[in-house]
Amino acid sequence: MEIIVGKTAGFCFGVANAINKTIEALGKYDDLCCLGELVHNNLVTKDLEEHGLRFIDNIENATKNVIIRAHGEPEETYKKINRLNLNKIDLTCPKVMKIHDIAKQYSQNGFYIILIGQKEHPETIGTISYCGKNCSIIQKEEEIDDVLNKIKKSGIKKILIISQTTFSLEKFNIITNIISKNIDKDCFIELNNTICSATKQRQEETYEIAKNVEFMIIIGGKHSSNTNKLYNIANENCKNSILIENEQELDLNYLKKFKSIGIMAGASTPEKSIKSVVEMLNKI
Ligand code: F3S
Repeated sequence: MEIIVGKTAGFCFGVANAINKTIEALGKYDDLCCLGELVHNNLVTKDLEEHGLRFIDNIENATKNVIIRAHGEPEETYKKINRLNLNKIDLTCPKVMKIHDIAKQYSQNGFYIILIGQKEHPETIGTISYCGKNCSIIQKEEEIDDVLNKIKKSGIKKILIISQTTFSLEKFNIITNIISKNIDKDCFIELNNTICSATKQRQEETYEIAKNVEFMIIIGGKHSSNTNKLYNIANENCKNSILIENEQELDLNYLKKFKSIGIMAGASTPEKSIKSVVEMLNKI
């Protein structure tokens, strides 16, 4: 059996940075908490908890030192942190911060901002708070018409389109094409594809591997946005694809019949999860 492991599988720069700085902070502060999961991976969350990190859902429950996770937080959270006089360790990925800055700048310059992303995702909730009053989120093609009507009613003729960093590149292109074709001709659109390079590389590599193997394994948190996108790409290009969090979920007896297996992992999946899956497959 041939096993192909993606070169880009696993931690991206933003996740590695957030985890390393959290470990540093754990050595420095005795009362440290993180607002929400630092990254969307259960193994990472459990490891950090064992090292003394406390996870909270509400900023009001922070006592002294609070970590802002890689996905970033809405403006309102920063105001609350100041009001509560907390010490913040801001580990928002620099690529997400850059999008917040772009959103603020364009909104101040009178643009209507369309953010393409998953509505419930913490990054999208954070980013939209920097987009001012005139903005909309689009997650699916079906929502485009409503947003275009809203823009028409607002009378705004300058539109900026940005994206959640981990959104599907293919879906982003489909949505932006429909918008360009259907928007009033006198509107000016500035398109800024803010899907991050780490996401693009992982999606492209997943596509390349998936179409050349008989079975495809995606490793990562089942609630991780970027991992789920990789699974969707794998599934579209290899009919035998699965998404697992760890090697315990593999059925070795079933896998014996495949001659080639591809492995990819989300940007928040630790190296040890990938290694454990490869070791397990080597048993066949
Ligand atoms: Fe940052 Fe991109 Fe990773 S936005 S957290 S480098 S997926």
